[in-house]
Amino acid sequence: MKRVFSGVQPTGNIHLGNYLGALRQFVELQEEYQCLYCIVDLHAITVPQDPKELRKHILDVAALYLAVGVDPKKSIVFVQSDVPGHSELGWILTCSSYTGELSRMTQFKAKSQNKASAPAGLFTYPVLMAADILLYDTDVVPVGTDQKQHIELCRDLAIRVNNTRKKTFVVPEGRYLKAGARIMSLDDPSKKMSKSAENIHSRISLLDEPSKIKKSIMKATTDSEGIIRFDKDEKPGLSNLINIYSALSDKTIDEIIAMYEGKGYGDFKKDLVEITVDALTPIKEKFDEIRSSQELIDILEDGAEKANEIAEKTMARVKDNFGLGLK
Ligand code: AMP
Ligand code: TRP
Repeated sequence: MKRVFSGVQPTGNIHLGNYLGALRQFVELQEEYQCLYCIVDLHAITVPQDPKELRKHILDVAALYLAVGVDPKKSIVFVQSDVPGHSELGWILTCSSYTGELSRMTQFKAKSQNKASAPAGLFTYPVLMAADILLYDTDVVPVGTDQKQHIELCRDLAIRVNNTRKKTFVVPEGRYLKAGARIMSLDDPSKKMSKSAENIHSRISLLDEPSKIKKSIMKATTDSEGIIRFDKDEKPGLSNLINIYSALSDKTIDEIIAMYEGKGYGDFKKDLVEITVDALTPIKEKFDEIRSSQELIDILEDGAEKANEIAEKTMARVKDNFGLGLK
């Protein structure tokens, strides 16, 4: 069976972009692949984290995985730092990476902009991500398109090691959806929807109340033309909303445009509120049920054990191919 790996950082505010770009794919893939879904806490500490909050967010993301439909009977759900292989392989791959290629990562450039010095963890973050993926001989990585450059680096590292040592790694492929691959900010459609933006109305979090969802959508930036049509350059705000509508309703963009011919933004937004609330309500209900249960902890412990079994085999092969250790 081919293998899937993906991860989400435990930093609160998991939003519609995370859901439509990544989490939705996780559920779909479970039927055909052996899937590993990780809560990447080691990635979260590339920026300062309050220990209590971090623990809480780890369990929040785990519960959200299950609430959107990840099934622990089919998939392995676990916390990154519970499997030592991630850090270990991260270091080994760091030694196969170059500062030049890491300096070109747009996410690093954006996060270190205007700073004389940046945390080294932010710089090597994509190498740890490559380790996450390569540790499990992953074939497919479902992510939003913002991660494309990191996936390419992971592939480059795998190929580089394979070419200079015995074949060590499976070279993975990224998997990106058409609708939902990049959801933009509701208040500024030139930026991607993000967990860390200050304005809470820039995003819809998966656990938002209906009244908050309504407010955020009704306030969303559009334009003054008043015609519902899809045009990312001229009408980025409305096009983003149409994209969200399409992803949540399984209607094509053309179908949506035909439905709203002669209608105004108000009607369109009102319907989008309803569709969004209907999609998120069952997720929130399931989340509330699961979040405080012992079952959640049991699932994560069991997941770590299973992930470790696979990781240990890969690490033995990697160490052997690099000549590390005694056996
Ligand atoms: P992160 O929040 O950075 O841990 O991202 C978790 C997953 O959500 C990754 O697969 C990202 O590519 C995806 N993602 C994050 N933001 C967006 C967005 N605005 N649109 C689509 N996918 C996103
Ligand atoms: N870097 C990813 C993000 O910010 C999260 C991540 C870490 C990840 N390791 C991964 C995604 C491995 C896919 C596979 O979204």
